Amino acid sequence: MARDYLMAGNWKMNKTPSEAKALAEAVKAMPKGEGTRKMVAPSFVCIPAVAEVLAGSDVELAAQNMSSVEDGAHTGETSVLMLKELGVSSVILGHSERRHIYGESDEFINAKAKLALQHGLDVVLCIGETLEEREAGKANDVCFAQLEGGLAGIDAAQMAKIVIAYEPVWAIGTGKTATPADAQAVHEACRGKIAELYSQSVADAVIIQYGGSVKPGNVAELMSQKDIDGALVGGASLDAESFASIVAFDK
Ligand code: 13P
Repeated sequence: MARDYLMAGNWKMNKTPSEAKALAEAVKAMPKGEGTRKMVAPSFVCIPAVAEVLAGSDVELAAQNMSSVEDGAHTGETSVLMLKELGVSSVILGHSERRHIYGESDEFINAKAKLALQHGLDVVLCIGETLEEREAGKANDVCFAQLEGGLAGIDAAQMAKIVIAYEPVWAIGTGKTATPADAQAVHEACRGKIAELYSQSVADAVIIQYGGSVKPGNVAELMSQKDIDGALVGGASLDAESFASIVAFDK
């Protein structure tokens, strides 16, 4: 089955609200090919300004994280209800920076994913191994465990609202990209794992993005792999020109 390409910019903790607004205007104007979706994930405080720019456009708006509970005494957290009211349609969960800097577990990420789905948000679930795990030959097993943990209790129908982002930790922000063949091997294995957890048709439909030093110069080759369905882009999404050529990778 033909899957769309989802090209998403994860702006991380970059851009002030006025800068984010300007970048959102640029992303809105970026031409994209048929079968390509555009998405941006600004920081929480930039979401209102970006939402205003993107309203009614073809750019999907995502948050970079959210609380595992709906509301209450959780100082410093942001609720799914707040995100929804601002027009956010997706949330990135389990990013390696959340896992490794802030100690988020699969169980915690799973609670957030279930809450997001309950409220109608799409989820971009990030998975990926560290360099040490890769060198120990455990890349697939780490990803499988993160898939099983992150997707626990999520049913086949809900999988239509899940995107997987494979981001090898050692490739994030390092300028080191997985070779297209290495990335493809993990993507294929993860699709196989999803088939085992759900069904072949769920696995065939799920978008699996690659993330980790995606740049204008390597995007086409990565996207040519049969199980790579888009990119989750950090650094190169902060510059309008480079994100534009990533979005239009097939031109
Ligand atoms: P870089 O593209 O900067 O390596 O970041 C990847 C990433 O973490 C996207 O979520």
